[in-house]
Amino acid sequence: MLRLTVPAMLSSLALSTVLLGGCPSPSEPFPTDYETRWREARTPCVLSHDHELRYVRVFADDAAFLPYTTGTGTFTPGATLLKAEYDDPACTELLSYVLMVKLEPGTTPPEEHDWTWQRFDPDRTEIHDPRFIPQTCLDCHDYHCAAPPYGHDYTCTPGAPEPMPRP
Ligand code: HEC
Repeated sequence: MLRLTVPAMLSSLALSTVLLGGCPSPSEPFPTDYETRWREARTPCVLSHDHELRYVRVFADDAAFLPYTTGTGTFTPGATLLKAEYDDPACTELLSYVLMVKLEPGTTPPEEHDWTWQRFDPDRTEIHDPRFIPQTCLDCHDYHCAAPPYGHDYTCTPGAPEPMPRP
């Protein structure tokens, strides 16, 4: 019995080593080829409304494109929006990214609205700063684009009017 078990264990160990060795690195936050894989969902390279004086490009995957660009319909779980932020009006000097991915209903605390709220360096390393993330994201998206006509499900849909200044 032992003679059968040990080789079986060894071969399963060897197999799992091979499998683990062959695994891709932990899943990436968003694909490197997002510019071609996803669709540009706002006028390319416009000055952001978020007051940091950055120029931005927003990309949507297939699930996010229509709800975002039309401001109607549902963002299904997995729907993804990526904003690339640049220093210059030609959008050549990338400064950072922000990313929102829709999650299953009830996944996050209610104030996070079942979206992920993440910021990344140009090399796609996540910037963890619990003093500001996600709270500053939530404050502004709540105020700026929670619902029509200003936005849709906390996304700041293209062409939506600016909300009135905060009292
Ligand atoms: C001061 C307001 C403000 C803050 C803070 C802010 N955003 Fe936004 N965000 C906007 C506005 C306005 C847009 C619409 C595009 C534009 O004009 O930049 C936007 C666009 C986006 C988009 C593209 C989809 C959309 O909703 O239009 C993503 C993704 C995003 N923000 C994520 C984040 C994350 C994550 C944070 C926090 C790390 C954050 N934002 C902080 C105002 C803000």
